[in-house]
Amino acid sequence: MRPLRSRPTGPLVGRIAVPGDKSISHRALMLGGLAVGRTRVEGLLEGEDVLRTAAAMRALGAAVEREAASVWRIDGVGIGGLAEPADVIDLGNSGTGARLLMGVIAGHPFTAFLTGDPSLRRRPMARVVAPLERMGARILARSGGRMPLAVTGAAEPLPIAYTLPVASAQVKSAVLLAGLSAPGVTTIIEPQPTRDHSERMLRHFGATVETAETAEGGRRISLLGQPELAAADLRVPGDPSSAAFPAVAALLLPGSEITITGVGINPLRTGLYDTLREMGADLAFTEEREAGGEPVADLVVKASRLEGVEVPAERAPRMIDEYPILAVAAAFAKGRTVMRGLGELRVKESDRLAAIATGLAACGVTARIAGDDLIVEGAGGRPRGGAAIATKLDHRPAMSFLVFGMAAQEAVAIDDGAPIDTSFPAFAALMNGLGAKIEEAGR
Ligand code: S3P
Repeated sequence: MRPLRSRPTGPLVGRIAVPGDKSISHRALMLGGLAVGRTRVEGLLEGEDVLRTAAAMRALGAAVEREAASVWRIDGVGIGGLAEPADVIDLGNSGTGARLLMGVIAGHPFTAFLTGDPSLRRRPMARVVAPLERMGARILARSGGRMPLAVTGAAEPLPIAYTLPVASAQVKSAVLLAGLSAPGVTTIIEPQPTRDHSERMLRHFGATVETAETAEGGRRISLLGQPELAAADLRVPGDPSSAAFPAVAALLLPGSEITITGVGINPLRTGLYDTLREMGADLAFTEEREAGGEPVADLVVKASRLEGVEVPAERAPRMIDEYPILAVAAAFAKGRTVMRGLGELRVKESDRLAAIATGLAACGVTARIAGDDLIVEGAGGRPRGGAAIATKLDHRPAMSFLVFGMAAQEAVAIDDGAPIDTSFPAFAALMNGLGAKIEEAGR
C-alpha cells in the first residue's frame, strides 16, 4: 500500500506530455508480435498493464525488447507463429491485456493458462469466451467465465459474424485478433461504435479491414483472415484518458493554463472533452496532426466556470474510462449533472459507479445512483473534500480523487497510490511539476 494525499493548491501552469495511450500500446505489442519482421514502437506506455502484455508476448515466443525510455522493438513471428508458453501468464490488473490476448491465443493450436490480480480475477470474461468458443477455441474458466482460465486455440478458427451484446472494444478486438488466423471474413456488428484502434492498427500492418455504418447508427467491421502482417513502425499518441486528469484539474483551479502536447484525439475517445466543452470549459485542440494512423493534437486548457449538464447514454462508449474524473468536475460545477447508461462501470477494475458515489459522498458532495445513471449535485464552488478514499486496485478513481483534493477546501487522501502505475506511472510528479501538492501520506 502506498498512501497519498493531495492538498489544495493554487493555479496549475505549464506544458506537459502524458504517457502513451494504453489501448494503443497493448495493441502495438500484440500486432507487432504477430507481424513478420521488426517493429519499432516509440512512445509506448511503460505502465504495469502494458509491461504485463510485453512479458506475455515474450512468453508466447515474440522477441520484445526495450531500446530506450518508451522505445521498444518487437520481432514478430507471423500469424499462427506463436508458441505454447511454459508457465501461467499473469496479466496483473489489465482487462485489455487479458481479453485481447485470449483472442490472440484462440488463433493458435496450443493451450495457455491466464490469471491476474484479485481485481482482474473478479471481472467477467464470459463476454469473450462466448464468441471465441464459437470460433473453435476451447476455454475452461471459473464460474462466470472468470480467471484463472485456460484457452486452447485452433489453428484455423472459424470466421464468424458476431453482434456485440455489450459495447466493448475489448470483445471486438479479441474476435478480430482470433479472426486473423481464420480462413475467410470475420465480421463484427457493433450497435454502438467503440474505440477503433484495432481496426486502424490492423490496416497499418497491412490487413484488409472494412468498416461501414449500419442503418441503426452502429458499425459493421469486416476483417479478411490470414493476411500477411508486415512489421511497421509506430508512434503511440499520448493517452487522452490520462490527459483527462491534468485537464480537469486545470479547469477547476482558478488562474490555471496548461498545454498537454501530443494527445490522441480519436473521435471515439473524446467524449469527455465534448462534455467538458458543453459544461463551459475553455479547452482547445491545437496543432492537429496524425501519428501512426491516429489523430493527435495539443490540448490547451484554461480554468473555467463549469455548469452541470446531461450526458446521454449513447456517449458512454466514447468516454467510458472518464466518468470518475467527469464526476469530479461535476462536483465543482454549478447545478446538477446527470450521466446516463453507466452499467459497464460496475465491471471495470472496481465497481466504479459505487466508487464514485461513495467517494463523492465522503467528500461532502450529494451524489446518487438511479438504475444505471449517476446524478451529481454540483457545489458551484469548492466542495469540502477532507476524506480518505479506498482505491480498491483501481487507478482511475485514485487519480480522480487526488484531483478533487487539489481544488477542494480540505486535502483528500487515498489509501493506495500503487494502482496508478498501471496506466500513469509519473502521475504525481507530473502534476506536482504543474503546481499540485501530492505527497506520501500516512507516515
Ligand atoms: C479498452 C476498452 C474499454 C476500456 C478499457 C480499454 C480497450 O473497455 O474501458 O480501459 O483498449 O479496448 P471495454 O471495451 O470492455 O468497454
